[in-house]
Amino acid sequence: MIKFDQIHTHADDEVRYVIDGEAIFGFVRPDGSQVELTVQKEEYINVPAGTEHWFHLTPARRIKAVRYFISTEGWVPQYTGREIRLHRAVA
Ligand SMILES: [Fe+2]
Repeated sequence: MIKFDQIHTHADDEVRYVIDGEAIFGFVRPDGSQVELTVQKEEYINVPAGTEHWFHLTPARRIKAVRYFISTEGWVPQYTGREIRLHRAVA
């Protein structure tokens, strides 16, 4: 099973438009620090190719989004093995 809640990259940009619900994207910044961003209804996100990131649902456990593919291969996660160090709220 493909898991997006571990730190990974993609060969292509990961582009989503959120129609409803919400979810959290986490990012590894160039200095190695980590940050999470909540994306909500009517928001658009573009995670550039090669960016270390992760994804998980919020406690509401619901998101409806359109994903824009360049190629299906480009969506395959490449796990980097880096640990997520941020404390997570438990659903
Ligand atoms: Fe991803």
